[in-house]
Amino acid sequence: MSALLHTLLTLCLTFTQGGCTYSGNHWDEWSDSQLQPTIQKLMKGYNRYLRPNFNEGPVEIGMSLDIASIDAISEINMDYTATIFLRQRWRDSRLVFPGNESVSVDGRLVSLLWIPDTFIPDSKRSFLHDVTVENRLIRIFSNGTVLYALRITATIACNMDLTKYPMDRQVCTLQLESWGYNLQDVVFYWTRGNDSVKGLDILRLAQYSVESYYTSVSEAVYETGQYPKLVLHFALRRNVLFFILETYVPSILLVVLSWVSFWISQSSVPARTCIGVTTVLTMTTLMMGARTSLPNANCFIKAIDVYLGICFTFIFGALVEYACAHFYTMQNQTIEELHRELLRDFNESNGNGSIPIFRYTQPKHTVQMSSTAEEPLEQAADCDTRNHAGAREKLSDQGCGLSSVRSASRRAAAAFTVENPHNIDRHSRTAFPMAFLCVNILYWLYYLFL
Ligand SMILES: *[C@@H]1O[C@H](CO)[C@@H](O)[C@H](O)[C@H]1NC(C)=O
Ligand SMILES: *[C@@H]1O[C@H](CO)[C@@H](O)[C@H](O)[C@H]1NC(C)=O
Ligand SMILES: *[C@@H]1O[C@H](CO)[C@@H](O)[C@H](O)[C@H]1NC(C)=O
Repeated sequence: MSALLHTLLTLCLTFTQGGCTYSGNHWDEWSDSQLQPTIQKLMKGYNRYLRPNFNEGPVEIGMSLDIASIDAISEINMDYTATIFLRQRWRDSRLVFPGNESVSVDGRLVSLLWIPDTFIPDSKRSFLHDVTVENRLIRIFSNGTVLYALRITATIACNMDLTKYPMDRQVCTLQLESWGYNLQDVVFYWTRGNDSVKGLDILRLAQYSVESYYTSVSEAVYETGQYPKLVLHFALRRNVLFFILETYVPSILLVVLSWVSFWISQSSVPARTCIGVTTVLTMTTLMMGARTSLPNANCFIKAIDVYLGICFTFIFGALVEYACAHFYTMQNQTIEELHRELLRDFNESNGNGSIPIFRYTQPKHTVQMSSTAEEPLEQAADCDTRNHAGAREKLSDQGCGLSSVRSASRRAAAAFTVENPHNIDRHSRTAFPMAFLCVNILYWLYYLFL
């Protein structure tokens, strides 16, 4: 029966070039067909420019969607491209025919029927697939219900907030509105509420996973009136694992690498500068690489930028730490030498024989220390403190003249001197990891849970 009807309708289209006036002689040969009254009733006097229930209430149009795929979710263009099956159903009392079956009509006959003027307000580009024929379907039920399905691919705008990138969650919408018919003419509804949308659960996306979705009914208000609107909201959560492997782990390792410098003797200048500069440069490269996939023109600071900034600060801090430690060591040595000069001068003028012997041994020892790079740090520090203690013991015996010289030179250098420069390294060994740990805890707490 449906096949016959199909043939009839197709013939009708072919012979009358879309006008479908049924006044020609072609119908006479079908006059014995029992279906003829149905066809006549279907198409005779049908005005496709008038909506169903023209003088009555609004047409109720039920919608449901199948999301076949969501391809490109683009942060640069702030949009996504989706292929959807859109199904609309409404009741057209002019199309009622006897029986309880349905007829699937050729998609080209759509042009003979009234169809809703649904559009996607946020779409930038969209097209109806037409291989091998236009992908649309019309099914007319005997009670007048029309089912109209389409396969559309659309690029739809989605405003993204990237401040938490890559720990972000984007909420995108798919909106359906009526172009010309306002709420007095057409009413939209989801056929099965939240279940009207299928396919989102099983979707596999490259960078995201669909966290949740729901549907809502609202209305669009324009200057020309109020229009029916259906909205599908869906939340996408980015899979952060890729970024952890790609960016976070390497930058953490770089920071740890920069700490290695604290365990290397201060006297090995090339080794420590090399570590410092190399880590700074690698970090810079890493920061550049992390930026390429995102819009650079945007002035917002993303979570990944914050983290790379933190790592860069720590690495830079390690380099600066060495600069400071080295500077103070050199300064300390100079001050020690100054002390000795002063002491020697003082003692020579006093004519005391015991001090010069002590003085001669000490500088030799210090010089030897600073020239051997392989000397363990601990030993160096020990010697240093021992020297101080020894010097102090001796000096306390020298009387008021010597102590005044000593205090004067101490005071002069006090503002810029650290008591023991090797302590800078020793404290850094705990301070840097602890600080990094604290900053990390704060960072991850803020971006994952706030
Ligand atoms: C509707 O179709 C069913 C079979 O699908 C048939 O049994 C039933 O008699 C039909 N009803 C009418 C009113 O034609
Ligand atoms: C029309 O018939 C179809 C198929 O039998 C059914 O799903 C639909 O609910 C019916 N519509 C009305 C308004 O009765
Ligand atoms: C659809 O889901 C949303 C969010 O979960 C909920 O608020 C709403 O009540 C649901 N609607 C229906 C019709 O179930």
